Amino acid sequence: MAPAHVVGWGSYVPERVLTNDDLAQMVDTSDEWIRTRTGISERRIAEDDETTSSMAVQAAWRALKKAGVSPSQLDLIIVATATPDHAFPATACLVQDALGASNAAAFDLSAGCTGFVYALGVAADMVEGKASRPGLVKPGKDGAALVIGAETLSRITDWSDRTTCVLFGDGAGAVVLQADDNYGGLLGTVLGADGSGGDLLILPAGGSGEPPSHRTVAERRHYLKMRGREVFRFAVRAMPDAVKDVLAQSDLCPGDIDLLVPHQANQRILEVAAKALDLAPERVYSNLDRYGNTSAASIPIALCEAADEGLIQRDDLVVCVGFGAGLTWGASAVRWSVPLPAEPPTVWRRGRYAVLQGYARLRSLMRRFVRWLFSRGMKEE
Ligand code: UT7
Repeated sequence: MAPAHVVGWGSYVPERVLTNDDLAQMVDTSDEWIRTRTGISERRIAEDDETTSSMAVQAAWRALKKAGVSPSQLDLIIVATATPDHAFPATACLVQDALGASNAAAFDLSAGCTGFVYALGVAADMVEGKASRPGLVKPGKDGAALVIGAETLSRITDWSDRTTCVLFGDGAGAVVLQADDNYGGLLGTVLGADGSGGDLLILPAGGSGEPPSHRTVAERRHYLKMRGREVFRFAVRAMPDAVKDVLAQSDLCPGDIDLLVPHQANQRILEVAAKALDLAPERVYSNLDRYGNTSAASIPIALCEAADEGLIQRDDLVVCVGFGAGLTWGASAVRWSVPLPAEPPTVWRRGRYAVLQGYARLRSLMRRFVRWLFSRGMKEE
């Protein structure tokens, strides 16, 4: 069984910056309170014409370019998100169309802020396959899986609720996985859930439980609600446990970790987790001050930035760990197998991807046009 390796990565955050001082003009808060209680200084907010899928696509192109993989090589696209463009179709299908990934299966995965770790685990299993049957993703360079975490949390944030609106931001991160026999790759995954804590972090209305109505809108039930202190208590327990469990699968211990890439929720949570694992602060990646909590996007954005900043070297042990709505938690251990620093794309590669992007747009338009022609023909019959 050839393990799944991360062969490309890319992230995207919107241009618009919302600072703590900006928030202090909107609700009764202060830069000082937000910094000391959360570690956040600013976050990115999507423009009106940006969506979860559009940010996911930007991150995906960057990851594909870095990997040197073309969209037609993709067998699988998973988008982990709590803020899909629509309840259906899946955001992953919108991404599939925008990339022109004509051979890929595509689906969304909902596991709150742990979504990316869940998606990485599911994709790795599909990439690796089993001894008795091949995986969904073709082995070697012929196939690949794209795993994305993407969120537009600004659309479900109640901008009049100071207990939540200071925390969240928008963005997307993506990785490309391929199977090969080389040393390293994804060593293991631990996933968990406890639905009895579902009400601690919830978007109450808009689903079949509470369909949209005048009442749900008037009562602001289409915005996320969180019992922060209880989530905090859960997080500081769940994160170190998940990390220890995933390392134990490979006979490793926290001291072996080169870089921990945790879900970026609160700097205090990261510090407590680091202490519980006896990790020096420089082994725990944090970009929380710049982006806030981007839910399922936070781990892949952090992973991409850490790799691009040269904080991850070949053969390093990298552990991603998350927790969030569900309640869910999870960790994945990766023996980084790509030589770093990654070479910047050559002119030829940049040109090739510009052509592929143009082709993807044209392909989508053509397919819509042909479908429109057929539907006209059917009307006339
Ligand atoms: O990714 C999903 C997971 N989510 C999380 O990880 C969130 C986990 N929880 C947390 O990060 C923290 O609980 C928060 C940052 C949400 C809150 O920090 P806290 O230290 O737990 O504050 P608190 O809720 O205990 O509130 C302390 C005080 C309260 O005032 P009183 O009742 O003591 O007078 C709040 O009303 O701080 C007040 N407060 C604020 N004050 C200024 C709450 N939010 C704000 C605010 N600005 N934005």
